[in-house]
Amino acid sequence: MDLPRPELSLVPRPRKLSPRPGRYRIDHTTRLRVTPGAETAARLLRGYLAPATGQRLEHADDGTFVLVLDATLTGLGDEGYGLTVGPHGVLLRAARATGLLRGVQTVRQLLPADALSATAGRGPVDLPGVEITDVPVHPWRGALLDVARHFQPASYLRRYVDLLALHKLNVLHLHLTDDQGWRMPVAAYPRLTEVGGHRAESMVGPAGSDRFDGRPHGGSYTRAELAGLVRYAAERGVTILPEIGLPGHVRAALAAYPQLGNHPGRRLDVWTEWGVCPNVLGVGDHVIDFFRTVLDEVLDVFPSPYVHIGGDECPADEWETSPDAAARVAREGLSGPGELHGWLLARIAAHLVRAGRRPVVWAETDTALPPGCTVMSWRDPAHAWAAARDGHDVVYADHRATYFDYARASGPGEPPAQPGQIVDLATVHALDLTPPSGEPALGGRILGAQGQLWTEFVTTPAHIEYLSFPRLCALAERVWDPASDWPDFRSRLTGHQARLAALGVPYAVPPSRPASAAV
Ligand code: ACM
Repeated sequence: MDLPRPELSLVPRPRKLSPRPGRYRIDHTTRLRVTPGAETAARLLRGYLAPATGQRLEHADDGTFVLVLDATLTGLGDEGYGLTVGPHGVLLRAARATGLLRGVQTVRQLLPADALSATAGRGPVDLPGVEITDVPVHPWRGALLDVARHFQPASYLRRYVDLLALHKLNVLHLHLTDDQGWRMPVAAYPRLTEVGGHRAESMVGPAGSDRFDGRPHGGSYTRAELAGLVRYAAERGVTILPEIGLPGHVRAALAAYPQLGNHPGRRLDVWTEWGVCPNVLGVGDHVIDFFRTVLDEVLDVFPSPYVHIGGDECPADEWETSPDAAARVAREGLSGPGELHGWLLARIAAHLVRAGRRPVVWAETDTALPPGCTVMSWRDPAHAWAAARDGHDVVYADHRATYFDYARASGPGEPPAQPGQIVDLATVHALDLTPPSGEPALGGRILGAQGQLWTEFVTTPAHIEYLSFPRLCALAERVWDPASDWPDFRSRLTGHQARLAALGVPYAVPPSRPASAAV
């Protein structure tokens, strides 16, 4: 067997790749030729090549590095591309601008790994000869970052977006609100961030711990920062999916506006604990109006076709004892307070549908999913297939394979993590989106999958990246092409590791699994 050529150790693996003889040299004489519609990709490419070569590559009509947008190309879909590299030229082609952006990331991976570093050599670099035709299988290839439990500045989110783009991931799901913090400014309700953006201290250890760090934590984005992030991500073909969670996980909003709760006279603080908070939204008309206003502002900032409204972990205890909730149950003809969860979600989801967006909710046991919702299945794969049978589109987010707040390995060297299980690299790579036997049509409802990084235990960018990589590499690989096999992925990952190192990702070599456990 040929030894893998490190520069061809692409992640995710292209669908079709043939090495070709020769190399293409990029130096100060290299010129780009860019057809109409390919300018965004050319800008991105120039930005990536500048540190490597020390120059911004100029345009010329006889340039030999050619980017072509050609809507008549077939078989490439929205994100596919073709790339040919030979000694005399490079040709990157796609039918859609997004396909060119994916191809630019392949060019970036074909560079010598150290050309990816901010202090790259400022000299000529070579691309290996190759012929690639590449198309993803799944359109939703995402990563959730929880900036509610621990805030990260917008500058860091840009870096994270760029790391996602490197792996051809195309959704950054920003978990913007939770019991412990509200990070999105809303002009009509400034206290959401002024009060809800700060907590007095944080629990140390998992839910139920009796230790606290005694240090305040807080932060929120400006609207301009979020709009800038949306633009930055779009230039890389990444969509920012905003999540405003309700009717549970709202303690920060209740601290800011007590009238949203079930006991309007009660003052609550922004939660300092982890776990499932008992305090949830009330069910008055004013609550629904409030969140419609919030979401209208979210829609202004985030052009994403999908908007996430949470829906997970909403205990009904407060509704069981609330006269207002009882009145709502009677007025709406519901069977009991347990149905208020689905009722409220449906009201908010309908608002998004009227605005031309697609609501996304977490799948919860026993809750009727609002019509028109896309479902993120996290507790059990059975929920994914049940939702698909009911006609919902599904994003697979099963905690056993995609929750990266669990440790990636056992052992004393691992940083603090959510207890309960290990999600190792092989488990992520074994992600299986195949529909149950006898129901192949359900496969058409599975948009793809995403990795989740909840941050109760994660305060720093270095920790975020340690938990994200290489597990996101494995996830990216499986959603790009589920046929990826484990030994081949592992051998390419060794070459890819040099790229992550050049980018300053605090990557540690993933521990090997016993061969019997490998997929
Ligand atoms: C979740 O992990 N509560 C979606």
